[in-house]
Amino acid sequence: MNYCFNDKLEIVGGNRLFGTFKNQTSKNAVLPIMSASIMTEGVVEIRQVPDILDVKNMKKILRKLGVKVTKKKDSLLLDSSKISRFQVDENLSKTMRSSIFLLGALLSRFKEAHITFPGGCKIGNRPIDLHIDALKKLNVKVIEDESGFFFDGRSAKPNKIKLKIPSVGATENIVQFAVKLKGKTEIFNPAREPEVVDLCNFLNSMGAKIVGAGTKKITIYGVDSLFGIQYTPIKDRIVSGTIMIATALTKGKVTIIDGCAKENESLIKILSSIGCKIDLENDIIKVSREGELKNINIVTGYFPKFPTDLQSIILPLLCVAEGNSKVQELVFENRFLIAKELNRMGANISLSNAHTALVRGLSAPRGRTVKATDLRGGAGLVLAGLIAKGKTIISDVHFIDRGYDHIEHMLSSLGANIRRVCQKQKSR
Ligand code: EPZ
Repeated sequence: MNYCFNDKLEIVGGNRLFGTFKNQTSKNAVLPIMSASIMTEGVVEIRQVPDILDVKNMKKILRKLGVKVTKKKDSLLLDSSKISRFQVDENLSKTMRSSIFLLGALLSRFKEAHITFPGGCKIGNRPIDLHIDALKKLNVKVIEDESGFFFDGRSAKPNKIKLKIPSVGATENIVQFAVKLKGKTEIFNPAREPEVVDLCNFLNSMGAKIVGAGTKKITIYGVDSLFGIQYTPIKDRIVSGTIMIATALTKGKVTIIDGCAKENESLIKILSSIGCKIDLENDIIKVSREGELKNINIVTGYFPKFPTDLQSIILPLLCVAEGNSKVQELVFENRFLIAKELNRMGANISLSNAHTALVRGLSAPRGRTVKATDLRGGAGLVLAGLIAKGKTIISDVHFIDRGYDHIEHMLSSLGANIRRVCQKQKSR
């Protein structure tokens, strides 16, 4: 079903969630894998690709580079045999952060690349200094021009790179570029997120030699070429976490298939400690809540700490807990954007600084007309609407559609009273 830019979501609160949810494939795994597919002249088939806006935009960017992209049911076939351009389209790259992942892939393919500043949710100023510094360490020449940066990797050499922040994007760019860089490149303090590990597994299945993904050091031994493959990326731990929190909020009982139980350890520990019942059977997660919720202090961090992407989503749950909670957001500098809209619905969230929110418990959310401010903040508003008294109307739903494959279907299939109101506009 097409998304329209001005769609709205209408939610009538009060329904408890019951049933079974089959998790979607991970947005943050699929996007770098789509980008890395241009590193081979062979055809790459990516399976179970979610129908989300960021995938649609990445397809447009790849097509502009000359990649032949065809849809086969829920697979994407990507044929990069004829790509000739190393310039990422400026307007499209502003639609999302993941356009930056193309930097490493293009440099690996063409030994040069031109990118503009990437887009992405306004949850911080999203710099790319770590990407640039790391590539310079590999002797890549970087020239800033009026529209972005030109990278010349023709005299690149392997090296040891120590990341001062375990940046997901910077790790993914260095890995992609080093895969075909003769010699041994080492990354110290890399990002250890499951999506980074999945990208490395994808590249290794194409013939790369990457060792240590998910640990404190990744070593890449350069190879001459990569071949096309079929690949199914991992499932989305943030979408699964969203359903777990929605179930806890509505005092429901839901079974999540492919729930990313191992990757969601930090969330599962928190939900169990505040009063939820969680049973795990391999990767099937059974979550329910009967009694009241206890308050808790949460600190976000780099994997395997509590993920920043679940911070806005757990806020509504803390708003109805018995007692006050403190949330520290230590990854991004502007990730409490949604607090204002939640307060308009009756929450009581105050910021003591850009990184710390104090959440008063026992609030009784009321339905309101609110605006999504970013992808995960928008999902947090949807969850607040599930328990708010009366009707909640959410606009700027395109933020949510960037990462959730029709969130209204996910939740209505579990009994929520939620529907999409399509505004008459061209689809995106
Ligand atoms: C990825 O963004 C994810 N996006 C984000 O998910 C996720 O929140 C983030 O990693 C952290 O886990 C995708 O994978 C497409 P970072 P990324 O580089 O790579 C600072 C979602 O909701 N930094 O790990 O942009 C940066 O400002 C999205 O799905 C620099 O200072 O994140 C941030 O404070 C939102 N300089 C911290 O590092 C740089 O050059 C972590 O950022 C790069 C990053």
